[in-house]
Amino acid sequence: MDESQAFSAPGSTNPAAPLALRGDQLVKRFGAVTALDGVSLTLGKGEILGILGDNGAGKSTLVKILTGFHQQTDGTLYIDGQQTLLRSVDHARSLGIECVYQDLALANSLSIYHNMFLNREIVRRGPFKLLDHKQMRERAAQCLDDIGVHVPSVDLPVERLSGGQRQAIAVARAVYSNAKILLLDEPLAAMGAREAGLIIDLVTRLKEKGGLSIIMIMHNYAQTLDIADRIMLMQRGRVTYEQKSALTSVAELMDIVRREYRAMRATSAQ
Ligand SMILES: Nc1ncnc2c1ncn2[C@@H]1O[C@H](COP(=O)(O)OP(=O)(O)O)[C@@H](O)[C@H]1O
Ligand SMILES: [Mg+2]
Repeated sequence: MDESQAFSAPGSTNPAAPLALRGDQLVKRFGAVTALDGVSLTLGKGEILGILGDNGAGKSTLVKILTGFHQQTDGTLYIDGQQTLLRSVDHARSLGIECVYQDLALANSLSIYHNMFLNREIVRRGPFKLLDHKQMRERAAQCLDDIGVHVPSVDLPVERLSGGQRQAIAVARAVYSNAKILLLDEPLAAMGAREAGLIIDLVTRLKEKGGLSIIMIMHNYAQTLDIADRIMLMQRGRVTYEQKSALTSVAELMDIVRREYRAMRATSAQ
């Protein structure tokens, strides 16, 4: 993607090459709380956008709007160039938007392959609607192999896996459902460096395979700059900084956050 498109102001996007997603001045209020106060964002096709920001900045709320879980109070969403009001999570899914949440929705006592087909099990032909375990096993193994996730056996219950492996299964499940836009809300939270490396490698491979655009909410600046093409910093429901990863640094990001923090302290001390 060329630079003018990545940073073009809302409304000036080249219609010949629609972005995977664009949000224009998104506002979300919960009663008296304004969680999003006019957030605009773009996601190019095949791009990885990393979102950083303090607790309460509105990151999860933004993701929940993009997955159809919440509806924005104001503002407009465009999916693949089409103005779209996402009515529900199912609606967003039908448009190829999949999310892996902070608290993974995996059934821990069930096998890996079962989890990959949860709520869309393959049944055998015939009057009894028996589950086709053989086919689900084979397809799950194939899918994990395709994206380079290695598990001893797809028959293992998910509870036997490490946090990183579980996250990988959740990502694989989303990818298997033909996601075009994948949203990851703090996928590396509470993971050690090795585990986090597993997910970073997986996301990198998915990017190389092509066809997928990814938004990742992240905590660690260095990891974010490593993996994302572009970063966006959110503070108090607003986007306060946006830049290509190659054009910024951990030091610069920390400086912006520090300045903001000092300004806040100064205001609240008055
Ligand atoms: N369902 C909700 N009802 C009321 N307030 C909410 C709800 N979800 C989030 N908020 C509030 O919106 C703000 C942003 O929250 P959130 O999006 O979870 O931030 P982040 O993910 O960046 O930590 C917070 O003040 C939070 O308390
Ligand atoms: Mg959050």
